[in-house]
Amino acid sequence: MRGSARSGRAIVALQTTKLGLPAVFFCCGLFFLAGFFGSMIPPVDLPNENPARLGLYEEETLEMAHGETGEDHVSELSFQVLSWKPRAMYYPNFASRKQCETIIRIAKSKLSPSSLALRKGETAESTKGIRTSSGTFLSAVEDSSGTLDKIEDKIARATLIPKNHGEAFNILRYEIGQKYASHYDAFNPKEYGPQSSQRVASFLLYLSDVEEGGETMFPYENGLNMNSGYDFNECIGLRVKPRQGDGLLFYSVLVNGTIDPMSLHGSCPVIRGEKWVATKWVRNEIQ
Ligand SMILES: *[C@@H]1O[C@H](CO)[C@@H](O)[C@H](O)[C@H]1NC(C)=O
Repeated sequence: MRGSARSGRAIVALQTTKLGLPAVFFCCGLFFLAGFFGSMIPPVDLPNENPARLGLYEEETLEMAHGETGEDHVSELSFQVLSWKPRAMYYPNFASRKQCETIIRIAKSKLSPSSLALRKGETAESTKGIRTSSGTFLSAVEDSSGTLDKIEDKIARATLIPKNHGEAFNILRYEIGQKYASHYDAFNPKEYGPQSSQRVASFLLYLSDVEEGGETMFPYENGLNMNSGYDFNECIGLRVKPRQGDGLLFYSVLVNGTIDPMSLHGSCPVIRGEKWVATKWVRNEIQ
């Protein structure tokens, strides 16, 4: 009580008397010292702040309580949203070089010319030249190295669509000049007849680099080129250059389930080198 009364008087005194220069220096020194020593007092721990979140304990992680089907750890999966129209994401370093080479080795002996799902009135002859790659379907059980199984797990985590919604991998090789003209992965029942399930997402894992060409293109990205008489062969719009081990995910249907007109895509012709890609089509029903 006495102390506070004294300091109260001192403030009054400061306000009412004219200060000499020595008094000003004295006060400045006092405030400096108070600030200097005050800064050395350790901060008080606030009870509701998580020390792990503040980065104070290195051994702690950010993991949360998880359900029976959840994961007991936090992991990283880097990606770049390439487009919202269509929804397309890029995953650098999704698979290792070794994993890519293993998949190519398994697929190499099984390649045959890629085929097309035909629309009403189309024949193999009338659609010749639309898709000129070679390929093979490979399911994870055919790969004793376990590589495809691991990749499937990772795709399921990226899409949050369970593994059993995926078709077998379609492993494709494009040689110089080979391409896939722009098309939709989803099947429009008006063109293809009734479907028991729909392809909702496509995940492309690039198994090789391509020296030149071979980009995955989205000619209608953000509504571009849609009303310009696009001929499905020209390599325009958003173009994604393949890089070994990287992944590209895009959705062929909108959130309300209708086919996204902007999900039209194709593979530009390879100009130099060779393109290898593993495609995983993910459906809205268990396969
Ligand atoms: C689905 O959403 C799109 C885009 O918002 C819209 O154009 C379309 O009419 C919708 N379809 C249905 C069946 O609701």
